[in-house]
Amino acid sequence: MPVVKMKKDEMLKIFGPASVHVVKGEVEVLGKRFTESNRFVVHKTKSYIIRALMDSELDFTLAPNAQIQGVEENDPYLEWFSKAEEIIDKKYKTIAIVGGVDSGKSSFSILLSNLALEKGLNPSIIDADVGQADIGPPCFISMAYPSEQVIWMRFLKPAKMKFIGDIKPQNNTSNIIYKVKEFVQIALRDNREPVIIDTDGWINDIPSLLYKAKLLLELRPDVLIVLGKELYPYFKRFAKLGINIINLSVPENRKTRNREERRMLRSDKYREFLYDAPLRKVGLDDVLIANMPVFLGEEINVNELGVEPRDKVLYASRTFDTLYLVLSETVRLQGFEQLKTRFNVPKTRILVSGFENRTYVSIVDQNNDEYPGLIDKIDFVNRTIYYRCKYNIKPWIIKFSKIKLTEDFQEQLIE
Ligand SMILES: Nc1ncnc2c1ncn2[C@@H]1O[C@H](COP(=O)(O)OP(=O)(O)OP(=O)(O)O)[C@@H](O)[C@H]1O
Ligand SMILES: [Mg+2]
Repeated sequence: MPVVKMKKDEMLKIFGPASVHVVKGEVEVLGKRFTESNRFVVHKTKSYIIRALMDSELDFTLAPNAQIQGVEENDPYLEWFSKAEEIIDKKYKTIAIVGGVDSGKSSFSILLSNLALEKGLNPSIIDADVGQADIGPPCFISMAYPSEQVIWMRFLKPAKMKFIGDIKPQNNTSNIIYKVKEFVQIALRDNREPVIIDTDGWINDIPSLLYKAKLLLELRPDVLIVLGKELYPYFKRFAKLGINIINLSVPENRKTRNREERRMLRSDKYREFLYDAPLRKVGLDDVLIANMPVFLGEEINVNELGVEPRDKVLYASRTFDTLYLVLSETVRLQGFEQLKTRFNVPKTRILVSGFENRTYVSIVDQNNDEYPGLIDKIDFVNRTIYYRCKYNIKPWIIKFSKIKLTEDFQEQLIE
C-alpha cells in the first residue's frame, strides 16, 4: 500500500475504511497528534483531514472504497482549528454546537476537547443526540469526561447517562433540555471545563428552531458554534442573551451517512452496551416500572375476574378507562364479554406474555443514575423480572422504550 510523503503544513483528506501508520514525522487529526510509529483507524463512516506538523511519511492501508484526496481550497478546517484554539484560550465555560445533519458538530466537539486536553484543561462533552448517540447508547443522552484525546467521539466512555426513551428528539425536547441542563451543572460542579455540548442535527423546520431556541434560553452557553452559513440568520439574534455566536462553514467534501449506515451505527452501540450482558433479576414488586400503563394501574386479583380458563390469566390491572389482562397465550376467555361492565371500563387491552421480551429499557438505581438494559422476560407467576445489564446495580426504576432489539441488535419499533 502507498507510503505518502507530506511536507510540513500539507494536508490530506482521507475517507475510510482505512488505517494509517506514521512512519516518520508528526501529523494531527482533529487536534490529536500522531508521531512516529503511531497508528490510527478511519472508520468506514468517517473522513478526516490529516495535517503534517513537520515533514512526514505515512503508510496507508486502504480497504475497498477508501480514498485519499487533496484538500479543497475552501475547506474550513484551518478556520475551525484557529477558532477552536481561540475559544479554548479564552477559557469559556460552556460551548454549544448546532448544525444540520452531518455538518461536523461532533467533529468540532472533539476538536475542542482535544485542544482543551492539550492545554491541560479537564473538558466534558455532553452528547445530546439521542438518534446518533456517540458516547452512550441510542435513546440516551450522555456525558463524558475525556482524559485522553480521541478522533471519534465513539471512543469516549460515558461518565453519566440519562434515558430519553426514543431515537427521535421531536417528542422529547423538554426532557432533553432538562437533562442537558442537569449535566452542565454536574460538569461545572466537578470542575470539568469547558463543557462542550453537542446537539442533534434536527434543524430544518419551525419546531426544531423552537427547540434549539429553548435550549439556548435554558443553557445560556458562553459560546454558540453555528455550523453552516445558512443557519446564521436564525441564531445571530441570540447574541442578545450574551452568547458569543460563532458561525463556521461546513466542509463540502466529507463522508455523510445514509439511513442504513445510521441504523448500523446504532446497532453497534446497542451491541457495545448489551452484548454478553449478564442475566439479572429483580422482583416485580421491588421496582417501579414507570412508563407502562399496565403496571401503573390498580392491580386486580386474577381470581376475581370471573373468567375461564383462569390459569391463562397471569396478571390484571385497571386504569381509569382500561382493563389490562396479561395472558400466558392467546386464548378465548369465557366471561370476557362481561368484564367491561363488571369493572366499569369502556376498554380492554390484552397483552400476551412475551410482549415484553427484548424490550430496550433504562435501569435506574437509587442514585438516579441510568444504565441501558434489555428485558429478557417477566415471570408473572413468580413475580420476577429477568433482564440483561452490564452494570451491577440495584434497580429502583425501570423505564421502557418503544424499541425491541433482535438477537443481532437490530432495532424494531413497537407500535
Ligand atoms: N473538514 C473535513 N473534511 C472531511 N471530512 C470531515 C471534515 N470535518 C468533518 N468531517 C467528517 O464529516 C462527517 C460528519 O461529521 P460529524 O459526524 O462530526 O457531523 P455531525 O454534525 O456530528 O453529524 P450527525 O448529525 O450525524 O451527528 C464525518 O464523517 C466526519 O469525520
Ligand atoms: Mg454528531
